Amino acid sequence: MAEDAAGIARRMHVAIIMDGNGRWAQSRGRPRLFGHSAGAARVREIVEACPDLGVRYLTIFAFSTENWKRTQPEVAGLMALFRRYIRNEAQRLLKRGVRVRFIGDRNRLDRKLVAMMDGLEELTAGNSTVDLTIALNYGGRDEVARATQRLAREVAAGRLDPEAVSAETLAGFLDTHVLPDPDLVIRTSGEARISNFLLWQSAYAEYDFVDTLWPDFTPELFARCLARFETRERRFGAVAG
Ligand code: FPP
Repeated sequence: MAEDAAGIARRMHVAIIMDGNGRWAQSRGRPRLFGHSAGAARVREIVEACPDLGVRYLTIFAFSTENWKRTQPEVAGLMALFRRYIRNEAQRLLKRGVRVRFIGDRNRLDRKLVAMMDGLEELTAGNSTVDLTIALNYGGRDEVARATQRLAREVAAGRLDPEAVSAETLAGFLDTHVLPDPDLVIRTSGEARISNFLLWQSAYAEYDFVDTLWPDFTPELFARCLARFETRERRFGAVAG
């Protein structure tokens, strides 16, 4: 496992907004889906770099609740790409000790894709080298709304006292309830916004906005982001020192 300057083994949670596939393809005169395919190949490399870099948890934004606004061919192409990814990567992820989870609202997703997602979660449930979470039809506000619905049902059923509801209680209803909060959120492609990604969980995350387009984001660039993270002083609202 990777160690920081003080020799302490890292177990970081890194979340990534994988942006720039479309521009990467366009700059080569190719269709946007070509960029998404190149992006999927990059996902494999970044996941496989995690153990050496001390990244125990990796959460990636694959499709947002807002991405349905894209053209039908692009949406259909992305859904086909997710199915292909699950089919082609399952055994490799299993062998490398990667535990896969999906977050987001599964209700709007194709039943066949959901069955494949469930299957991959089950297949890799015994793994513990890297926890890979794929956000698919995910939006931070939508997640909080769905969590609130579940919480409200518990209150209505008399199983939860409204006075006892705390931030921790609500966090327990989020899709990410089994994961630690992210330490670092990276966004590629030069855009400096968070686009509804892990809004609640990133309250104290460090952010790194890098200019590289996602299909060009190598493990070396990933390592550089982690090295920059090490230089940040995290205070969690307290004073320095
Ligand atoms: C944003 O780039 C990227 C997406 C909406 C899709 C992310 C998907 C992948 C990286 C593909 C594979 C993922 C998995 C899990 C197999 P963009 O299209 O918005 O790029 P642009 O801003 O240049 O148009």
